[in-house]
Amino acid sequence: MKTLKEKILKLKKEKNAIILAHYYQEPAIQEIADYVGDSLGLSQEAAKAKAAIILFAGVHFMAETAKILNPNKKVILPDLKAGCSLAESCPPHIFKKFIDAHPNHIVITYVNCSAEIKALSHIVCTSSNAVKIVESVPEKIPIIFAPDKNLGNYINQKTGRKMVLWDGSCVVHEAFSLDKLIALHKKHPEAKIIAHPESETHILATASYIGSTSEMIDYVKTSPYNKFIIATEAGILFKAQQEVPEKVLIPAPSYEDNTCACSECGFMKMNTLQKVYDCLLNESPEIIVPNDIRKKALVPIERMLELSK
Ligand code: 13P
Ligand code: SF4
Repeated sequence: MKTLKEKILKLKKEKNAIILAHYYQEPAIQEIADYVGDSLGLSQEAAKAKAAIILFAGVHFMAETAKILNPNKKVILPDLKAGCSLAESCPPHIFKKFIDAHPNHIVITYVNCSAEIKALSHIVCTSSNAVKIVESVPEKIPIIFAPDKNLGNYINQKTGRKMVLWDGSCVVHEAFSLDKLIALHKKHPEAKIIAHPESETHILATASYIGSTSEMIDYVKTSPYNKFIIATEAGILFKAQQEVPEKVLIPAPSYEDNTCACSECGFMKMNTLQKVYDCLLNESPEIIVPNDIRKKALVPIERMLELSK
């Protein structure tokens, strides 16, 4: 009898589908994916996809971005409820008022937002190109940055800009405990702390390196150090550990978790191997983006892809 993995791989071939997965997906899903990456890599991969069906093993805004880039392809997501606290923090009708209250501002949005929010934006960015995208805007032009205030604060500090920030945050990256992190570092003083810029300023202040998920994996691979405390969603450890089996990778501790001391994104973990199979078999749930929103949202995404070449 075929395993679930084998059945998915067979179905994928028969249906001319590809599976794009984020690093935060459970290892079994990462193993059957055609491509595993960060938000920028996944958008770039979606933009050049040739398959008839894109199964997005990630969260809703990621699948929506793939659909905006591929209106004639079927984009499916194993669980439509796989959302994101950042995307949810930014309702379009309130964000529109926020923009109207700040006339003449360029609107830069982090990709972790809905298609409606992207449709209200001038440029989209991800954590790996955010600084570059912000720096592409002439200094005298004021900027609204949404929805992640932590990433926004980090960019303001890196670039010296005074962007107006929307008050959103990632529940996973805000759950890291500074006290527990310091205690853990005392136990492993030789470890380098590395952090995702969605983390709060006091966590970033402890980090030797700050970057997107892909950049963190690259850093672990290429830096001369052998031990790291990693402040991002714990799913990243699977790929990172495969890249550097000889190095020690320790997940940063969060407030609530006293047992495994790691942070997991409940939205990302809604996808399971069984749901991936069912989704591919039924070609559902499908991501639908109304055409008027899609056309408007495409412009800032294409600007980002152009600036990221
Ligand atoms: P990156 O994959 O761009 O680093 O973003 C992390 C994240 O939180 C995605 O939801
Ligand atoms: Fe959203 Fe945070 Fe989960 Fe990423 S880790 S999907 S930013 S809630």
